[in-house]
Formats: sequence, structure tokens, C-alpha cells
Amino acid sequence: MTPVQPKTQAPQSQGTGSAGRRDSLSVTDNRTGKTYELPITNGAIHATDLRQIKTGPDDFGMMSYDPAFNNTAACISRISFIDGDKGILRYRGYPIEALAEKSTYLETAYLILHGELPTEKQLNDWAYHITHHTFIHESIKKFLDGYHYDAHPMGMLISTIAALSTFYPDAKDIFNEESRRKQTYRLIGKMPTLAAFAYRHSLGMPYVYPDNELSYPGNFLNMLFKTTELKYRPNPTLERALDILFILHADHEQNCSANAMRSVGSSHADPFSAAAAATAALYGPLHGGANEEVLRMLMQIGSVANVPAYIKRVKSGEVRLMGFGHRIYKNYDPRARIIKHVAYEVFDVMGKNPLLEIALECERIALEDDYFVSRKLYPNVDFYTGLIYQSMGFPMTMFPVLFAIPRTSGWIAQWQEMLLDPEQKIARPRQIYLGADERPYIPLVNRG
Ligand code: ACO
Repeated sequence: MTPVQPKTQAPQSQGTGSAGRRDSLSVTDNRTGKTYELPITNGAIHATDLRQIKTGPDDFGMMSYDPAFNNTAACISRISFIDGDKGILRYRGYPIEALAEKSTYLETAYLILHGELPTEKQLNDWAYHITHHTFIHESIKKFLDGYHYDAHPMGMLISTIAALSTFYPDAKDIFNEESRRKQTYRLIGKMPTLAAFAYRHSLGMPYVYPDNELSYPGNFLNMLFKTTELKYRPNPTLERALDILFILHADHEQNCSANAMRSVGSSHADPFSAAAAATAALYGPLHGGANEEVLRMLMQIGSVANVPAYIKRVKSGEVRLMGFGHRIYKNYDPRARIIKHVAYEVFDVMGKNPLLEIALECERIALEDDYFVSRKLYPNVDFYTGLIYQSMGFPMTMFPVLFAIPRTSGWIAQWQEMLLDPEQKIARPRQIYLGADERPYIPLVNRG
């Protein structure tokens, strides 16, 4: 839209004009010559205010066309803040760097869900409740047993999260605060158990039950990797690395999976069903599946010497440089910076990942190349996570699962915020219909 000079005369339509600076947008419809004044609130106009712009009484009214929500705020949120140009991420006002350095995942999850850091007592209670909701119903093991040995763990995770809704019908009571609290404990508590059981199933190994004496990430490592030892003791460096990775993945405002959680939740489905949908959204290679794709790409490149040829293919549009680019970050993803440090700590324990040199060379070339610089394509969170996860012994299929576990706290916070927002309704975008006009039905015998 071409910007127009604010009119000094009274608007011909509604508006909130005032003396001096006016928080409004004047729009002239050149089809009719009419000018409208649209109020600006929090730097945005209300899309429904456009509906008054009509060419005649039969006109439905103006809509905004925004496939993939490139410039549409669908909610007011107070959870995560991102400044993509400056490379800033904050949860409830706290910089991600400070949380990654000083907090734990469970404390961060509390912050994300409650809006404030917990007191010591609140944190202990929170950790107690999460820890005491880690067991899953024995019947869930039967579903898992039904999957093929090579079933993708994300597929198993999505379906078992959905299945939780059948075990906890009280979860339908979504406007009951106590019920929401309980489902929150259950979802955050059981996600690592479901994930670990899916992994153990894929190996044909017996399931390992939660150990309440371990931390959240330590218990997850226990359920994944315990073999014959009587007591599993996680390596403290790996336990902390996983906790940091969980902190970094806890929320990321209105991304594809948060949007799925809100959208499904807006129909008042229970939180397990909505979280299953969010997990499904995360499964795609453009979202949570990207780190798996990064590793495949690095293996396909094969050696540092092959990197320039691969970058050439990227620039010709043949392939994408996975782990690069982001819808919001047009600068270095702050999470990628933190992860790079974590990677070296993990490599100190587990040995250097042989794909690291290839990744570093891709990054070096891309950060200097005009194709990437002009498009503001920088490494995103997934560029290094795959290397870390692989070094820690996770198969690639587990990578998106490792994303889904911590993101659960963000999904629940987004869902709850949506439910309690009086402006929210069932999510229902509009469309611009360009299909066939009305036409008569042709009987089968008459169709050529
Ligand atoms: N490699 C090469 N070129 C790219 C890449 C990439 N990774 N990402 C974007 N581009 C190019 C596009 O081809 C386009 O070029 P053009 O203007 O010449 O057509 C331009 O950069 C803009 O790209 P869009 O696809 O419009 O950007 P969008 O915001 O829609 O996509 C996305 C963001 C999906 C993350 C994209 O950058 C991508 O596919 N990256 C690789 C996958 C990935 O790493 N995903 C993880 C995201 S982080 C997360 O979900 C946790």
C-alpha cells in the first residue's frame, strides 16, 4: 500500500483522531476516492477495521492477504520476545544468555508458565510435582509395542501424546485452573518418559522407569541409556549440556508448532490433543526436523573439500543450506551462539564430531558470501544441535524429539495465554477464493 498523507479534515469513516500526533492510519481507497482512518494500537491496525473499506453494499469488505502470516500478529503475548534483526531472545523479559548460563530447564519452564522466576519453595514444589508425574500408564507401553522396530520416534511420540487424552478425561475441563495445572505437570513430566520409551522400543531394549532422585535431564538420560548398572549416574557435563539445550528450546513465540497448539486449542480441544498437533508441526524438516536434515546434509557433503561445490548448488537454488536462515532472525540466532559453546564442552567428553569441520567450513563460507549476507541468512539453532546430539549418542530420528520435550512448556504457556485471552476465538482464517464459479452438476454418463 502506498503511504498517504494524513488528512486534516474529519475522517469520512470511524477513527480516533486527536489534536497533534494521531495514532491512526489514513487510507484512501482509490477505487472509490473514500478515505478511512484506522486506529493504531501497539503499532498495529486491526485487520477487521479494513472490512469497512467497500466498493458498494454487496462488497464483503477489504481483507489483508498474508499467506504464512508473514506480517500478521494473531495474538497479544507476554511470554517470549524476539528481535530478529538484533538477534535477541528473551523469556518473560530475561535474556536467553542469562537463563542458559544461570538457570535450569525446570526453573525456566516455571518462568515461562508463571511469568516470574520461582522462589526456592515454589521451585521445589514445581520440581516435586513434575517428578511425580513422570510415570505413564502401563497400557501406553502396549501401543508402543505395536509399532515396527524402525518406526520414527516422532510418530510414536505424537500418537502417544494424543493417547494421553484418553487416559485423562479430566483434561477436557480446560477452564478449570486446577485441571490445567495438573495437565501441565503431566505433560512436562511424561514427555521425557514417552520419548525415552519410543527410543528404547526402536532398539528393542527394555523400558527404563523414571528415577526420582535424578534431575529432569539426568532422568531422561537414565531412561534412554541405562543398561545393567543398578543406578544410572549421568555424566554431569552431558546432563548440563542437555539442560541448556532444553532451556534454549523452551519457547520461541508464534512459531509453526506454537501456532498449531494455539489453533487446535482454540477449538477447546484438551491440551494433550493440542500438544500432539504441535508435536506434529514440529516434525517437519522446515521446523524441528531441520537438525536431522543438517546432519544428513553434512554427511552428504562428506568432506571439507566438497563444501564449495555444495555451496554452489545452494546458490543455484538446487538445495538449501539446512540450519541456515530463519523467518524471524535476520542476524545470528542467539541460541546458535550459545550452542556452539555447548558443542565444544560435549566434544571434550565424547570426542570431536568428525562432521564439525565440514559444518565450520559451511558457516565460514556462508558468512562471507553475498548470497547469504544479502538474504540475511545466518546459522539458526539447528545448525549445531545435530552435531551435539549425535556426539551424545542420539540417533538422528531422536533429534526432533529432543526439541519437543522442552518446547512442551512453551506450548502449554501459549495455549493457556490463548484460552484466557478474552479477544481470542476459534482460529479461522479467511481465504481469497479464485476457484470455479457456480456451475451445473454433470451426470457421470455425460462426462467426456
Ligand atoms: N539455504 C539457501 N537459501 C535460503 C535458505 C537456506 N537455508 N533459507 C532461505 N533461503 C533463501 C530463499 O531461497 C529466498 O531466496 P530468494 O529471495 O532468492 O527467493 C530467501 O532466502 C528468503 O527465504 P524464504 O524461504 O522466503 O524465508 P522464510 O522466512 O520463508 O524461511 C526457513 C525460513 C524456512 C527457516 C528457511 O530459511 C529454510 O528453509 N531454512 C532451512 C531449514 C532450517 O534450517 N529450518 C530451521 C528453522 S529454525 C527452527 O525451526 C527451530
